[in-house]
Amino acid sequence: MNIGVFDSGIGGLTVLEELVKELPQCNFIFYGDQKNNPYGEKSDEELLKITSEIVDYLNEKDCKIIVIACNTATTRCRNRLIEKYPDNVFIGTVPAVKVACDNNFKNTLVLATPATIESERLHQIVDENIREDQNIYLVPCYGLADAIEQNDVDKIERILSEIAEEYANKEIDSIVLGCTHYPFIKDRIARYMPEAVLLDGSKGVARETRHQLTLNDLMPEDNEKGTLEVVFTKK
Ligand code: DGL
Repeated sequence: MNIGVFDSGIGGLTVLEELVKELPQCNFIFYGDQKNNPYGEKSDEELLKITSEIVDYLNEKDCKIIVIACNTATTRCRNRLIEKYPDNVFIGTVPAVKVACDNNFKNTLVLATPATIESERLHQIVDENIREDQNIYLVPCYGLADAIEQNDVDKIERILSEIAEEYANKEIDSIVLGCTHYPFIKDRIARYMPEAVLLDGSKGVARETRHQLTLNDLMPEDNEKGTLEVVFTKK
């Protein structure tokens, strides 16, 4: 049994890193779908088609458990993938809004792709967790994931400086990195908003994967080091 992990590109590697730390005995297949990057500005139908092709590929490689290492694909089509592939277990990645609320941060900025920001799932998570004395600002970061994928530093800096300027007087104390590409630019974000604590959900995803492996009786019995296969599609 392999564990499939996918994203629109390099972002999912930030989740993979935590998965390998948490479950070094497991075999992983990572699928970075650079051909279809970015996901964050696509329609739900397009995303379902693209992600279904990935799930078909991973199923051929014996991946019962599939980690959607992408907030966009999780918030926009995880439920439909669960319906379409009832024999798979899908573990999703969602912006760590619950962590921000549970830790009593007062002014939280959620940075994510436009598709994640507009998703019903994210709005549900906010409604379920926010308390009266808390503010949550949802920021659609047009082009940011793509700029990270292309390593376009000027564009990354431009987007970050605009966001920092817009929220400069909101006393932001936490920033949710709601796209798996964003941990790659943690240091840059921190330079713009040094008072804020940065939160991302990768460790939670790794713990949930462990939990699902146990629940489904799929945890490898021996403790030998697992394998890692990495596939990137090209434009
Ligand atoms: N890394 C992805 C996410 O977490 C998607 C970025 C993109 O392709 O737009 O949302």
